[in-house]
Parts: sequence; C-alpha cells; structure tokens
Amino acid sequence: MTFHRTRVLVTGGTSGIGTHLVRLLAEQGALVATCGRDPDRLAEATRHPGVTGWVTDLADPGRTAALVADAAAALGGLDVVVANAAVQHRQSFTAGWSATDSAAVLAEVSTNLVGPVVLAGAAWPHLRRSGGVFTALTSALAYSPKKSAPVYCAGKAGLGVFLRALRYQWDDADAGVTVQEALMPLVATPMTDGRNDGAMPAEQAARQILQGIARRVPVIAVGRARPFRVIRRVAPGFADAMLRDS
Ligand SMILES: NC(=O)c1ccc[n+]([C@@H]2O[C@H](COP(=O)([O-])OP(=O)(O)OC[C@H]3O[C@@H](n4cnc5c(N)ncnc54)[C@H](OP(=O)(O)O)[C@@H]3O)[C@@H](O)[C@H]2O)c1
Repeated sequence: MTFHRTRVLVTGGTSGIGTHLVRLLAEQGALVATCGRDPDRLAEATRHPGVTGWVTDLADPGRTAALVADAAAALGGLDVVVANAAVQHRQSFTAGWSATDSAAVLAEVSTNLVGPVVLAGAAWPHLRRSGGVFTALTSALAYSPKKSAPVYCAGKAGLGVFLRALRYQWDDADAGVTVQEALMPLVATPMTDGRNDGAMPAEQAARQILQGIARRVPVIAVGRARPFRVIRRVAPGFADAMLRDS
C-alpha cells in the first residue's frame, strides 16, 4: 500500500506519536483527518497540506461517531482509521477514593477503550466499502501491567481482546478489511514525560506503524515490543517484573 491519496483518520494527531503519523502521511500525499481537545495544537497539526481536523473529546461516544461521519464526508470515504488518542493517569487504590477519582476513571476508560470501540463500529461501513484498515495502538502494559496506572493497563488489555474478536467478525464478513493491533514499547512523548529514559523516538515509532499498516499485518510489534513479545511468551514472570515498577 502506498499512502498517496489514501484517506486516513488518525485520532489524537495533536501530540506525540499522532503528530508524526499525521505529518508523515501528509508528506506521502495522503488525505488526513485528525482531532484533539486542544484548539491551538490542532491548528498546528492541520497546517500540513491535505490535513483537516476537529476539536473534539473522544471520551464522549456521540462525538466519536460524529468524528467518523465528519471525516468520511470531508475525505470522500475512509481507507485507514487509526485509533491513537489515549490518556494515561496514575491512581492509588490505597490513598482513599473520591467522586473526582471516579469521574477521572470513567473519562480514561471512555477515551482509551470505549473510544476505539465506537470508532470501529462507526468506521465499518466506510472500511467495508474501501477494503480498508483499522489500526489501534495498545501497549506492552496491556500484557504486563505497571502498578502506577492500573486503569490505563486494563483499558489497553481490553482493547487488545476487543481487536481479536473484531477481527473474527470482520474476517467472517469477507470484506477484505484488516484489523491491526499496533503493540507499542515505551516511546518518548508528552504522555511519558519525565520517565522516558531510553525510550524510542516518536517519529521512529510512527514510521514503523505506517510500515505495518502498509503491510496489513495483524500485529505491528514496534521497536522493543518485538523482543518483549518473545520474553512474555517464554518467561511471563520475568516480563511482569520488568514492567511492574516502570
Ligand atoms: N508513549 C508511549 O510510551 C506509549 C506506549 C504504549 C502505547 N502508547 C499509545 O500510543 C498512543 C499515542 O500516545 P502518545 O504517547 O503519543 O500520547 P500523547 O503525546 O499524550 O498524545 C495523545 C493524543 O491523544 C489526544 N487525546 C487524548 N485524549 C483525548 C480525548 N478525550 N479526545 C480527543 N483526543 C484526545 C491528545 O490530544 P489533546 O490532549 O489535545 O486532546 C493527543 O493528541 C496512545 O494510544 C498511547 O496509549 C504510547
């Protein structure tokens, strides 16, 4: 697959890995739609030719479905949809609990798990028409969680399982639509600020994701996620210990 004139929706193109996905796609002549909550960062992301965007909050399922409709209308259809937007919050389950904590958890799960689920459901008619690709970013933390962000890890684990079941349905529908999990290692982005020593540069991560999308492989194991998968298979306890306090 070459991305020239390919119609791509990338959620969360205003920061980190998403910024690079949007820019690299635009450089290859793709027609790109993206979104984020921050208007200034969205304006920066959409300054590349061929890129359009919306300020929206994907914690709201109605707005996620509307984003798909708007993007498909603007681009004349969709060939590739990348569920990239996510947030990561730290939680303590030993320090007391408040209504604010409950609201934050709801927003995190809505963005990280419900968001990609709604995105897939709303994107299906467009991807079926184009024989396209749906890619969602998970994490090594979906397989070996860290203690400081239990809800993030649970959301990514849920997303990984969702993608497998989604693949069964879409494969059985025989429409030539590919479902991909982009399994990410630690990448240097604002999400990992202050704890990303030795992390993979975000541009390099984005390039590997795009190569994986072009190859239509079911799992894109990016950077150190590749050896991590092997370690996780042969020594799960060791893999868990590696990431527990990361
Ligand atoms: N960095 C890593 O080490 C790492 C590792 C494993 C997996 N990942 C995954 O890679 C993806 C990209 O992460 P990143 O590190 O590039 O994060 P990032 O720099 O924090 O960027 C996240 C993007 O998502 C958008 N976003 C967040 N919540 C949103 C919401 N409710 N509605 C709309 N947009 C929203 C943000 O825009 P606004 O803030 O403007 O809304 C931003 O554009 C995520 O799925 C993350 O889980 C990252």
